[in-house]
Amino acid sequence: MKRIILGDNAEVLPTLPEGFARLIYIDPPFNTGEPQKRERIRVVATDGAGDRGGFGGRRYEVSKVESGSYEDDFGDFEAFLMPRIQLALRCLTPDGSLFVHLDYREVHYIKVALDRLLGRKHFKNEIIWAYDFGGRSRNRWPSKHDTILWYTKDPNDYVFHFDEMDRIPYMAPGLVSKEKAKRGKTPTDVWWHTIVPTAGREKTGYPTQKPLGILNRVIKVHSSPGDVVLDFFAGSGTTAEAAIRHDRGFVLIDSNPEAVRVAATRLARFEPECIGFELPPPPPPPLPLPVPSLPPPLPSSPSFVADTAVLESTPEPSGPELSTPEPSTPEPSSPEPSTPEPSTPEICAEVPPIGPGVPEICPEVEGPLPVPIHVEPVEPVSSLHDFTFPSE
Ligand SMILES: C[S@@+](CC[C@H](N)C(=O)[O-])C[C@H]1O[C@@H](n2cnc3c(N)ncnc32)[C@H](O)[C@@H]1O
Repeated sequence: MKRIILGDNAEVLPTLPEGFARLIYIDPPFNTGEPQKRERIRVVATDGAGDRGGFGGRRYEVSKVESGSYEDDFGDFEAFLMPRIQLALRCLTPDGSLFVHLDYREVHYIKVALDRLLGRKHFKNEIIWAYDFGGRSRNRWPSKHDTILWYTKDPNDYVFHFDEMDRIPYMAPGLVSKEKAKRGKTPTDVWWHTIVPTAGREKTGYPTQKPLGILNRVIKVHSSPGDVVLDFFAGSGTTAEAAIRHDRGFVLIDSNPEAVRVAATRLARFEPECIGFELPPPPPPPLPLPVPSLPPPLPSSPSFVADTAVLESTPEPSGPELSTPEPSTPEPSSPEPSTPEPSTPEICAEVPPIGPGVPEICPEVEGPLPVPIHVEPVEPVSSLHDFTFPSE
């Protein structure tokens, strides 16, 4: 199954089959502190008369709640997110896992709400994704991590492929045998990984895109080949890219036409089924470059002049990341949007100052490399207002 669906997940989720996904990963738009307009839904359990099937065989009624424009606050975020998670649970296999990617503003509220919804026994891990990028606050500790909550549908029966973990370097490799040092150790619940580098080949130009390295790890350990992964806040389709690279299927849902367009273009080589929109046509092939004719060398300094001519007349090949225009919003793909990011590429390629024992996840090079993505500059649309944050 390779499916990308354009639509509000509150409407799409109830139409999906029951128990098809072994893994759900979501990265919902974070609470921003900005005024927002967001439609909320209410899911009410009924005595069997409801129009939707739900968790534990119960029936539910789903209705939209007019919220209008409001000052975004934690209560509203919970009211927005939790009913959608509730709807999605019926799509999970009995041994499936739910991963919810949040930041420091939301995670505590959603943790408590998820404990209430699923039961505390179903909570398995709070994973800290630590990165180091962008500006640094001078009046508080810079916020440089996101939190990913892992819950299982069944507290005792779930997928955890220990041997599929990537290995990371020891903090003090001199204290272990050479073999151990070479093999590396298994990661903990703190994951060091750079954000998607602005000038990297992975970058699609979609704001808040998450790194493939994070999704690769989740998908390899928490699902098996042949499984289907569901992401109902899909954005640029990072979850699907990681899934398909590891022989899993995917179902993506996003309400933003720009998101599904970017995801469909990114995943075009896997021929996904597009629902509610059409796959954009592939970009025309680049025109052949004219062969530069070199001026005759000057007798005084022939080699120098010839080199200069070549340098000046041969354009740099443009890699996929260079042919992808930046989105019109200056928002970086950093998950820490409140710290404005400098736009210089050399700083964007910055790697966190990791010590020997706090390594980042090594980006994987397996599988085909992403095709060049030609994305038109992204016009700000209302549902992306979530991603504009006040600077610190
Ligand atoms: C933080 S982004 C996800 C980024 C993604 N993880 C990636 O790597 O590109 C959140 C996405 O949720 C989408 N979204 C927000 N509300 C939605 C809704 N009600 N239904 C479906 N998608 C929604 C937004 O359009 C946005 O693309």
